[in-house]
Amino acid sequence: MTKGLFITLEGADGSGKTTQMERIIEYFQKNNLPYLVTKEPGGVGVGEKIREILLNHKGPVSSRCEMFLYLADRAQNIDVIVQPAIAEGKMVLCDRHADSTVAYQGYARGLDVEQINMLNNIATAGRKPDLTLLFDVETSVAMQRVGNRAEKDRLESEGAVFHAKVRQGYLAIAQKEPERIKIVDANLSVEEVWTQVKRILDSEINPL
Ligand code: TMP
Repeated sequence: MTKGLFITLEGADGSGKTTQMERIIEYFQKNNLPYLVTKEPGGVGVGEKIREILLNHKGPVSSRCEMFLYLADRAQNIDVIVQPAIAEGKMVLCDRHADSTVAYQGYARGLDVEQINMLNNIATAGRKPDLTLLFDVETSVAMQRVGNRAEKDRLESEGAVFHAKVRQGYLAIAQKEPERIKIVDANLSVEEVWTQVKRILDSEINPL
């Protein structure tokens, strides 16, 4: 049985991680690696309902309420989706995870980062990703990409100052954990970004 790895993708809205996710799935398929794809917020079931509130609720949502909803979704994702798949030897690819809460609710909304780290630890039952790809992009480039989307969700509608703080937050986390978090320059073209991602996967997963 292959050893399952827990791989998370992180980055600002408009960082292009969803496009790269499709390439990573093709990579798993070509290399005959069993895999499972999930996302936060909103893996399956109850997570989908939480996602709907988080992204589309029209009334006020306090920062702490928002944080706990992301954490609740995370606990469900880890317990019901991620851990069982890892135990079966699958590669688990998760679109956003604990670092998002540190960057968005911590650095950008201003909640206490140490407290978030502690709560993340509870939500994940202490399971850290084996590898995190951080798609780092200039805020102006990311906002331009998001601006082209037909409809923006609650978080995407935040301004440049908020998104610049998200980026700084991510870079600060990456500096603290260089072993786990690999920074990808996401300002470049899809092909150039993929070249970087593939190089990281080749060295971290090491397929035959
Ligand atoms: P996405 O799935 O389209 O990336 O949208 C999720 C949004 O939620 C995105 O704007 C980032 C935000 N988010 C947080 O603010 N905190 C979190 O913990 C997570 C997982 C996502």
